[in-house]
Amino acid sequence: MAEPTPFSITLLLLFNALYAIFPVAATPFGMTWSTKSFGPDGPWQAVRVSIGSPGQTIALYPGGSFRSHLLTSKICSNATLSPGVCFASSGGIYTPSNSSTSFDTIIRFPATTDYTHGGLEVQGSAAIGALDQISIGFSTKSQREVIVPNVTLAIHDDVNLVYPGGSTPVLELGTLGLGFLGTVNQSFQQTNAPNINGSLIPGYLQAQGITNSNSFGLHIGSVEPRISASLYFGGYDQGRIVGAVTTQQGAIAGIEGQDAGAVGLIDLLDIELNVVEGASPWNSTNVASLLGSGNSSIGPALSVVMLPEAPYLDLPQSTCDAIASWLPVTYQSSLGLYTWNVKDPQYERIVSSPSVLTFVFRKDQINTANVTINVPFMLLNLTLEAPLTSTPTPYFPCNAQSYGRYSLGRAFLQAAFIGTNWNANDNQGVWWLAQAPGPNIGSQSNVQDIQDQDVNISSSANSWSTSWEDSWTPLSIVSGNATTSLPGSTNSTSNGSNIRAIGGGLSVGSKAGIGVGVAIGALVALALGVWLFAYRRNPLRKPATSRGFTTSGDVSHLNNAHCLSTDSPGFLPSETHRSGGYGPAELMDNAMKPVHELSSD
Ligand SMILES: *[C@@H]1O[C@H](CO)[C@@H](O)[C@H](O)[C@H]1NC(C)=O
Ligand SMILES: *[C@@H]1O[C@H](CO)[C@@H](O)[C@H](O)[C@H]1NC(C)=O
Ligand SMILES: *[C@@H]1O[C@H](CO)[C@@H](O)[C@H](O)[C@H]1NC(C)=O
Ligand SMILES: *[C@@H]1O[C@H](CO)[C@@H](O)[C@H](O)[C@H]1NC(C)=O
Ligand SMILES: *[C@@H]1O[C@H](CO)[C@@H](O)[C@H](O)[C@H]1NC(C)=O
Ligand SMILES: *[C@@H]1O[C@H](CO)[C@@H](O)[C@H](O)[C@H]1NC(C)=O
Ligand SMILES: *[C@@H]1O[C@H](CO)[C@@H](O)[C@H](O)[C@H]1NC(C)=O
Ligand SMILES: *[C@@H]1O[C@H](CO)[C@@H](O)[C@H](O)[C@H]1NC(C)=O
Ligand SMILES: *[C@@H]1O[C@H](CO)[C@@H](O)[C@H](O)[C@H]1NC(C)=O
Ligand SMILES: *[C@@H]1O[C@H](CO)[C@@H](O)[C@H](O)[C@H]1NC(C)=O
Ligand SMILES: *[C@@H]1O[C@H](CO)[C@@H](O)[C@H](O)[C@H]1NC(C)=O
Ligand SMILES: *[C@@H]1O[C@H](CO)[C@@H](O)[C@H](O)[C@H]1NC(C)=O
Repeated sequence: MAEPTPFSITLLLLFNALYAIFPVAATPFGMTWSTKSFGPDGPWQAVRVSIGSPGQTIALYPGGSFRSHLLTSKICSNATLSPGVCFASSGGIYTPSNSSTSFDTIIRFPATTDYTHGGLEVQGSAAIGALDQISIGFSTKSQREVIVPNVTLAIHDDVNLVYPGGSTPVLELGTLGLGFLGTVNQSFQQTNAPNINGSLIPGYLQAQGITNSNSFGLHIGSVEPRISASLYFGGYDQGRIVGAVTTQQGAIAGIEGQDAGAVGLIDLLDIELNVVEGASPWNSTNVASLLGSGNSSIGPALSVVMLPEAPYLDLPQSTCDAIASWLPVTYQSSLGLYTWNVKDPQYERIVSSPSVLTFVFRKDQINTANVTINVPFMLLNLTLEAPLTSTPTPYFPCNAQSYGRYSLGRAFLQAAFIGTNWNANDNQGVWWLAQAPGPNIGSQSNVQDIQDQDVNISSSANSWSTSWEDSWTPLSIVSGNATTSLPGSTNSTSNGSNIRAIGGGLSVGSKAGIGVGVAIGALVALALGVWLFAYRRNPLRKPATSRGFTTSGDVSHLNNAHCLSTDSPGFLPSETHRSGGYGPAELMDNAMKPVHELSSD
């Protein structure tokens, strides 16, 4: 790009001045996506933002509520975390000291280490609360750069992942926080000083009149085959919805840190194999009841959460094994994942044909309606790379080591649209899940506005199967082994029917969702737990033990103040929170004295 000339700067200033006089009508704000893709378990797409001043260009996975999580250059200078190569720098890395707008010591309230909400097992020191401005790109309508000041951040100096075979430094990207119920500012309280306020991006955009609502619509798309990604604040691209929309009550996802998986849940009723067209690579065109197969404790539904900040399908081992039994894959116990047996002829047949993994969800929290999302196996032919494997290895992303925290990450969200209106129902929130299209989506987006209290969004008239037609190759009937009967319990659903019909009207569940109260309660518990582990940024602090901040499977410890008394600084921090969903607040202990104590549980 050419250097700005004085003339163009003058024009820009003039434009900005005019803008101030004649504000442009609020309209959805579309994020820019990085032209690179990321691993080591992808490839995945990520949004591109510019953080701080001068701007540091960094790619982030959109995901998670409240703070955005950034990996810092300290990871690259740590030889343990970056042995020869700094994987964390692949999307650009944040150096707070190089930004004149950064406040990296002002918020001494520590943030969670695991910013994947249990989608991965993350360990390391607690992240540090910080503020910095983020340029989220240009508004196409006003032609102005939109810079959100003082975005609440959590900065990670020391973080790595634990797999069953050991720990490994493979976190490549941080996350761009997607907001929270009714929240513009996340407030951190200090003694004898005004609150420190940090912005959440979608709330800020609405408060500034740039968008009409505190909301977003997201389809992360896919790299291979190429499905461009889409993220709008204050609206959504209707072309990204090609099936019935389920409207869920409450917040879409967990709040930062541990919420015991109680927020943003949707009932997953079943997982099936289906063949949309042509012959089946299996001995049936429909194999159902895989979710509960061989595990009676699962019952009629498994509650899961959507995690764009995490990569895998995090399901019970029994479910992963049941699906895997139909696939030419090998379980890799050191990773908890399955690698495709690429020499098996079934691999090519499954991955290149209209064969799909179908997820059946309860629709609108009503027990008589389902919504299905089909994930073509073509999207589940992902690649493990260094340092997880020495050579690029195709894998099937079912994570059989999810420690009881079940979620659907990017592997699933390649094929699904999700969105939220955080302010709907008087800040109780609604969120949406729907089938997203395949590669053939047309070059024009059809961006729709979301208004402040909207609870409904609309599907496009596009056909899902048409969006995939050019990308997959149906197996010819003569060469296939398509029979229709299956053994055991799957018999009842193998009635020869093809893929479930996608389509139908919208309706809003009448059941009230998870309210703010629950969220805030969990937040306080989280805050206390995290605080007790790492009460302030102190070089003399005891180094974290390998399990110290490991979160998956360790939730109860984090939430239990008593078992941590030896690590306690001798007082408990006091946190306050506001009604209306404002984030965690902190009393800064300048005098190193508690202002008042929490009644301990
Ligand atoms: C480097 O990373 C290791 C492993 O996470 C950690 O224990 C150590 O404290 C880090 N060193 C520094 C100087 O941050
Ligand atoms: C910080 O800025 C300085 C001066 O521009 C530059 O030399 C250095 O590489 C930057 N540090 C990082 C880690 O980006
Ligand atoms: C901080 O944010 C809260 C909540 O949005 C607001 O009530 C308060 O006025 C803000 N404080 C300052 C100093 O702007
Ligand atoms: C950002 O936060 C700092 C610390 O609270 C404050 O001094 C500054 O005025 C804020 N900047 C803006 C643009 O609100
Ligand atoms: C958020 O905080 C900023 C100061 O950082 C303040 O100017 C603004 O009024 C607050 N917004 C709301 C909606 O409370
Ligand atoms: C069976 O499902 C339950 C969850 O309902 C899970 O805790 C357990 O690990 C599963 N068993 C196996 C062998 O996967
Ligand atoms: C699976 O993915 C790899 C890596 O993108 C690709 O090279 C291969 O062709 C894919 N396999 C099939 C059968 O599509
Ligand atoms: C919803 O899905 C479940 C599990 O596949 C099935 O038993 C039920 O009949 C379906 N209900 C409707 C209304 O489609
Ligand atoms: C059909 O099934 C038979 C027996 O299972 C198998 O030998 C044959 O390879 C299959 N045909 C195809 C085209 O997969
Ligand atoms: C279909 O394949 C499954 C798994 O290979 C096998 O258990 C089952 O017996 C087969 N059913 C028929 C009717 O061939
Ligand atoms: C399987 O389907 C056949 C034909 O519809 C039926 O006769 C049989 O009873 C079914 N078996 C089970 C276990 O449902
Ligand atoms: C949302 O959609 C449902 C189902 O179509 C309808 O009953 C309801 O009235 C709509 N709500 C609003 C506020 O438009």
